[in-house]
Amino acid sequence: MSRILVVDDEARMAGLIRMELEEHAHSVSTAGDGAMALELVGRNDFDLVLTDLRMPGMDGLTLLKAVKEQSPETAVVLMTAYASAQTAVSAMKEGAYDYLIKPFEMDELLIMVERIDSQQRLLLENTQLRENLGAGEVSILGESEAMREVFELVGKVADQDATVLIEGESGTGKELIARSIHAASHRAGSPFVVVNCAAIPDTLIESELFGHEKGAFTGADRKKLGRFELADGGTVFLDEISELSGQAQVKLLRVLQERTVERLGGGVETIRIDVRVLAATNRNLQEQVSRGGFREDFFYRLNVFPIHLPPLRERAGDIPLLAGHFASSNGAGGIAPDAVKILQQYRWPGNVRELENVIERAAILAGPGEEITTRFISHLEAIPESDEGAPRVTIPEGGVDMEDLEKQHILEALRKSEGNKSEAARLLHMSRRRLYSRMQHHDIEY
Ligand SMILES: Nc1ncnc2c1ncn2[C@@H]1O[C@H](COP(=O)(O)OP(=O)(O)OP(=O)(O)O)[C@@H](O)[C@H]1O
Ligand SMILES: [Mg+2]
Repeated sequence: MSRILVVDDEARMAGLIRMELEEHAHSVSTAGDGAMALELVGRNDFDLVLTDLRMPGMDGLTLLKAVKEQSPETAVVLMTAYASAQTAVSAMKEGAYDYLIKPFEMDELLIMVERIDSQQRLLLENTQLRENLGAGEVSILGESEAMREVFELVGKVADQDATVLIEGESGTGKELIARSIHAASHRAGSPFVVVNCAAIPDTLIESELFGHEKGAFTGADRKKLGRFELADGGTVFLDEISELSGQAQVKLLRVLQERTVERLGGGVETIRIDVRVLAATNRNLQEQVSRGGFREDFFYRLNVFPIHLPPLRERAGDIPLLAGHFASSNGAGGIAPDAVKILQQYRWPGNVRELENVIERAAILAGPGEEITTRFISHLEAIPESDEGAPRVTIPEGGVDMEDLEKQHILEALRKSEGNKSEAARLLHMSRRRLYSRMQHHDIEY
């Protein structure tokens, strides 16, 4: 699959090309002019930019130069109705991959895309091979004992073809681990395809996973490759696997056993696939099996090599490292030590994702280059981990006199604020109005 940007001032033309490419499982964006195209190139990684030559504003040749400057690995192909040797020569000189003369057959375009794709794949494979010898491109942080163990398991299993089941609460980094397993495997140069089992309706799961032939069912107006075929040579990541219906589990079990898929409406034709499967869940699958909510045979197929990601609250030692990383990636100038302490005491029900969000928000509040202080994370203080639900007071033998307790607190607040009622009210977490009324009640004059 290639990521392609089609640039044409004629929206209809761009739309036609887009449809054709999407039908062949490429991911396509379109732009109506050179300026918009450049903006998209700045924000995305395209494998190919396919641009019209003559456009109002920036023409194709200028765009070509600018794209090559911003993203040298992106291939650029020019389309032109005015085939002149001159343009072709200048285009190639400026680093165009090729050019197409309008009108062209879609097949011509598809073959070219295919060729660019396989060449880029080879290039990528080589660089990735080199990178994976080092740390790899996916950065997972962690220095706690628990995470070190996880890294060790990842290192051991990555280059095997074994199925890995990654378990952990939401936001603990399951997808990140899956990506790093793929990146460190010999499949790194091939696709990593994510299937979110919870997001695909039951009725569509088979066609999503295994594809369909044209006319396989109502609405199947064109042939579609399934995710398993798209991932051929690479890795399929089955996310939220606990959400699969029983029927889908049976189908997948077969795929895992036989390593073949059948497209819907494809008759008896089976397609051999070379795919490594990784799965993730934030539920306890074993428990679901014993309750009858998940097939046991499928579970054992998946559970060949389990990796458990501990919740963040059980590895508070990782928090300074993670928070520091998120702070700098959000442009903040570090985190104050007492703020780090608050972060380490919080329970983090949303785990690393929640930490990431909290730091992003704090970095915005603090401003670029500024230190994140307790002020910017004060909403976390209200929910310290240790005394969740536990009482913070003890009642003495003789009981407590609430009336007197309130009176003493009001007197103390007034003394501390030197009679400033607003300040006293703030200390007591009550409105000024209520403070006056309670003062009257207790006959306090100040
Ligand atoms: N150890 C880590 N180092 C750096 N970033 C991390 C780490 N763990 C998680 N993250 C970041 O936290 C976010 C959530 O991670 P990820 O999507 O992998 O979690 P998940 O377990 O798949 O969550 P969910 O169950 O909700 O799908 C991502 O932005 C990821 O980059
Ligand atoms: Mg996830």
